[in-house]
Amino acid sequence: MVTTYTPIVLGTILFFLLSLCHPYFSIADVIYRPVDHFTVNGGSALNFIDGRNWTGDSNTKFLSESKDSVAVPADTQSTIQGPYTYARLSYSQFTYSFPVTTQGPFFLRLFFYSTSYQIFDRSKAYFSVKAGSYTLLQNFNVSLHADTDDDPGHSDILFREYCIYLQHGQRLDITFTPSTTESYAFVNGIEIVSMPSYLYYSNPNNTIPDDFPRLPQLVGHMNQVYPITNNFALETKHRLKVGGAQISPSQDTGMLRAWDTDEKYLITDSGPSADYEKKTNLSFVKIPNYTAPDQVYRTVRNIGMNPFKNLTWHLPVYSGFFYLLRLHFCQLNPFVQQPGDQIFYIFIQDQLAEAGADILKWSNNKMGVPVVKDYAVYIPGDREKVYLSLEMHPNNISFIKDAQLNAIEVFKINDTTGSLAEPNPDPLPQSPNKQISNKKNSGTKRPLTAAVAGAVSGVVLLSFIVAFFINKRKQNVAVYKNQKDGTSRGGGSSSLPTNLCRHFSIAEIRAATNNFDKHFVVGVGGFGDVYKGYIDDGSTPVAVKRLKPGSEQGLNEFMNEIQMLSKLRHIHLVALIGYCYESNEMILVYDFMDRGTLREHLYGSDNPPLSWNQRLRICIGAARGLHYLHTGAKQMIIHRDVKSTNILLDENWVAKVSDFGLSRIGVTSSSMTHVSTQVKGSVGYLDPEYYKRQRLTEKSDVYSYGVVLLEVLCGRQPLLRMVEKQQVSLVDWAKHRYEKGFLSEIVDPALKGQIAPHCLRKFGEVALNCLVEDGNKRPSMNVVVGVLEFVLKLQLQDGANVNAVLESGWDYEDSTSEDMFSGTHSSVHVSDYSNSSGLNTTSYASKESDRLVSELVFSEINDPKGR
Ligand SMILES: *[C@@H]1O[C@H](CO)[C@@H](O)[C@H](O)[C@H]1NC(C)=O
Ligand SMILES: *[C@@H]1O[C@H](CO)[C@@H](O)[C@H](O)[C@H]1NC(C)=O
Ligand SMILES: *[C@@H]1O[C@H](CO)[C@@H](O)[C@H](O)[C@H]1NC(C)=O
Ligand SMILES: *[C@@H]1O[C@H](CO)[C@@H](O)[C@H](O)[C@H]1NC(C)=O
Ligand SMILES: *[C@@H]1O[C@H](CO)[C@@H](O)[C@H](O)[C@H]1NC(C)=O
Ligand SMILES: *[C@@H]1O[C@H](CO)[C@@H](O)[C@H](O)[C@H]1NC(C)=O
Ligand SMILES: *[C@@H]1O[C@H](CO)[C@@H](O)[C@H](O)[C@H]1NC(C)=O
Repeated sequence: MVTTYTPIVLGTILFFLLSLCHPYFSIADVIYRPVDHFTVNGGSALNFIDGRNWTGDSNTKFLSESKDSVAVPADTQSTIQGPYTYARLSYSQFTYSFPVTTQGPFFLRLFFYSTSYQIFDRSKAYFSVKAGSYTLLQNFNVSLHADTDDDPGHSDILFREYCIYLQHGQRLDITFTPSTTESYAFVNGIEIVSMPSYLYYSNPNNTIPDDFPRLPQLVGHMNQVYPITNNFALETKHRLKVGGAQISPSQDTGMLRAWDTDEKYLITDSGPSADYEKKTNLSFVKIPNYTAPDQVYRTVRNIGMNPFKNLTWHLPVYSGFFYLLRLHFCQLNPFVQQPGDQIFYIFIQDQLAEAGADILKWSNNKMGVPVVKDYAVYIPGDREKVYLSLEMHPNNISFIKDAQLNAIEVFKINDTTGSLAEPNPDPLPQSPNKQISNKKNSGTKRPLTAAVAGAVSGVVLLSFIVAFFINKRKQNVAVYKNQKDGTSRGGGSSSLPTNLCRHFSIAEIRAATNNFDKHFVVGVGGFGDVYKGYIDDGSTPVAVKRLKPGSEQGLNEFMNEIQMLSKLRHIHLVALIGYCYESNEMILVYDFMDRGTLREHLYGSDNPPLSWNQRLRICIGAARGLHYLHTGAKQMIIHRDVKSTNILLDENWVAKVSDFGLSRIGVTSSSMTHVSTQVKGSVGYLDPEYYKRQRLTEKSDVYSYGVVLLEVLCGRQPLLRMVEKQQVSLVDWAKHRYEKGFLSEIVDPALKGQIAPHCLRKFGEVALNCLVEDGNKRPSMNVVVGVLEFVLKLQLQDGANVNAVLESGWDYEDSTSEDMFSGTHSSVHVSDYSNSSGLNTTSYASKESDRLVSELVFSEINDPKGR
């Protein structure tokens, strides 16, 4: 019999039956009314508990394939109310098949009570469960899970909740298969409830990041989203109301979700959870009102007096899966009055997820407007029990140094094989567990008093388990640290010195990148894709560069080149950690740079603009890296592809040159290979001399670097197609403006008022000198470093002087006479630069330059006001 609730029937019956035992329950709370709702009990009993009307499966036609299955009562009474008096059990496979009427997502809930059922011994329940094409449970040892479950209140009851999307006309088949011939499969209850289309699944039409529901942001991957598409199955791992009491299924918005409390996962102290009474009505304008019950948004946890000044939760999960993490917020604190009053950081797995979380801003500046934020995070590893960490602490710019949260939901996403299955837990250690195992084994006819005693010892057990996990976690950290320099180094047949360059097997690389998951792609280049991966059991993030096939080199040459490149170590070069050369794959593994490419911080992204001083420091760093490439190794190394996407930034904004030497191993990011197989480089950065004469010197890098300097100054691409002809080429346009004395016109508007005029002029000089036609006349990188350091010094000493001239738009009316040759870099000699740049018509030195000596400038620097 189909137990489809019609709204009125559901509401009325719930009201009458539940008002007796759930004083807070009322019809008005049922906001969402499921279209399909099946609740079957694996037996004949019929009862009504917590909003669920259990129908015995023998009364239904859902049990479709069940040759030898039987419905048998439990030997012991469960201490918890529910569908636990009977179970459906079988030594062979059995299937339930549900005819749903709507297309869309469904909750699928499974209820198990681990006990003995007549001839079915408790410890022999061992089986797999599939729903459609998804594996929900694999070799699931029910008694083991029940014994190690750290929730004393629910001892011996196991509950699993999944989300599955069904197409129109599709039946939902749920198959239970015993894992061995000695074992059996069973289930006590199954519930299927339809849910709103886009409660957790992403609306495919919703690609604008600011719309609701916002697509989940992939943590650790800037600006990447991770839509939850209909072909995903989810498993609810945690649904926690932060602060206050739990919410029972009947108090949910109509989908019968249980909201647990968060204390057991909170590892920092917190202020007492605040409970905002119904003074302010909630206003569901950003999210639908069925997202969570009102009460979820009326209790919060704050940092309060917690000495760590942060709130941290550790949520147990299994590694090797993607997780969807939903955070619920609602601002009801009367002291927070306007956006900016309370701003905090959110870190997920120690990775920055939000630097400026501001609930009031997200809520359209209104109190009592609930919002949710979704994140996707990959937990690398091989099906091990680990903790998903969530940490929040105030941003210093915040007026109120606090952070707050209303609720957390965590869902596991199926792996590439469609599985959600986790391994069985390790059995608990024997000695401290004696009482417990006695309880389980002897208790086939356990009297009620024993159950109470069990619950009490369960509390003891809980504290033991908590201590155990805390210890275990410490150990895990230690293990990671040890493994960091130990594991998987010697894995290959490498002849390379392992301390310099590590060999990775293709299996390691696949594990590190979740089998080259497209969501891990952080960059795409001519040479191939770059993935963010994790090595050493997930402890170390790395950039994995998967080179496109195309090298004509053999293994030996490849290894020689790798060896040479891995010896290049410099603070301004991205370190090559290792390589993989296997199964036709050439893969390079580099240090991961948190802040991505320089270009992303100049234009074309949402990143806040870099300050002028930051930009100067980055330019200096990159120039030093190139200088080292040109002179630091035995042979000169010409980069050949200097551009703003090959300059990366680490967490401290230190610039690092990447992709050096790739051309040596026969791979190039050239967008120009179609022009000539000889010429390598990227459009817009290519040295015209090299292009014309195909003569490669380190001065080609200097030219490309000059283009980068202009990008940094102007915040635009080297080539723009859709602009006036004159402005298409940044180089030509900048030369033109510089000669006319209007360089300030083309400066990035974000830098307005930041650049001292003489610094601008000097910066322009050095950039344009890098760009002179004749390579011989371009400065060496060493000279460039010197000049830029000098510009930075001037800027730092003269920062106050910045405004007037830039505003007037006329760069050179103040004709003070610093000399670009008088850089403070000790190794720069005036003569070097004069010779190399040649003060002819194509060079860009101010006339006065040659007359000045460096001492004069030094004295100006020391006493900037003395002029
Ligand atoms: C439960 O469902 C059955 C079958 O649909 C129905 O006959 C019965 O009245 C329902 N009971 C309650 C309490 O809703
Ligand atoms: C399942 O776990 C129980 C302990 O609870 C153990 O006795 C039994 O051997 C396990 N079954 C299998 C097949 O591993
Ligand atoms: C998405 O947009 C298309 C075209 O506007 C529309 O036909 C379709 O129904 C929309 N789908 C959803 C799921 O909203
Ligand atoms: C947050 O608190 C924990 C202690 O519970 C501490 O180890 C951690 O360093 C703190 N984090 C910050 C950013 O203060
Ligand atoms: C909240 O809503 C109730 C019922 O709609 C209304 O009577 C009450 O005045 C509202 N309270 C506030 C503070 O707006
Ligand atoms: C929930 O939202 C829907 C649609 O906006 C509205 O029709 C309904 O009245 C709301 N229900 C409650 C209980 O506020
Ligand atoms: C989940 O399973 C489906 C179907 O098996 C598959 O298409 C999808 O890629 C899987 N999801 C992930 C994240 O691997």
